[in-house]
Amino acid sequence: MNKDVERILIGEEELDRIVTRLAAEIDCDYKNSERLVLVCILKGSIVFMGDLMKKLTVPCEIDCMKVSSYGAGTATSGNVNIHLDLLRPDIAECDLLIIEDIIDSGNTLSYLVDYLLLKGAKSVRTCTLLDKPSRRKVEFAPDYRGKEIPDEFVVGYGLDYAERYRALPYIGVLSPSVYENA
Ligand code: PRP
Repeated sequence: MNKDVERILIGEEELDRIVTRLAAEIDCDYKNSERLVLVCILKGSIVFMGDLMKKLTVPCEIDCMKVSSYGAGTATSGNVNIHLDLLRPDIAECDLLIIEDIIDSGNTLSYLVDYLLLKGAKSVRTCTLLDKPSRRKVEFAPDYRGKEIPDEFVVGYGLDYAERYRALPYIGVLSPSVYENA
């Protein structure tokens, strides 16, 4: 285990089981879709999306967006910057499935769903690996949820602290000494 990780919250086998279950749910719901597009929200979702797409049997395309949320303490969901947009001329034919690593305030996903619908997507749903419902600032429920977790600082499997730990194969709780001494 990485020396900065206090304990493993979700190990590799459990992650695999969670991703397998989510892929089965998505397979079932999108079996009649003519154009399913998985939209990876960079960077944290890269590892999750890579594993998830390998387990899908329905045909899918992939795309990426990069966004940042700010002012998450407000009651509105408009405080999101788009750094890399989804630029598809065929968006009206696309069933978009936004892939997230974690939902915290809910700001990012509640904004993105409205944004992509306004851009003309045929449908928009959301899939998150982790959910911290205790941190919500705006009401938001994902369509697919891997696991609810407590309000702890988690890293690994794509999630970072100061751009580190993304490559860990498990989700671990970061030792407070790492960020308290930063
Ligand atoms: C994280 C996460 C979500 C967002 C969730 O991204 O990947 O996109 O924050 O928070 P919210 O529910 O409060 O909006 P982050 O900004 O850490 O970027 P990263 O994925 O590149 O690490």
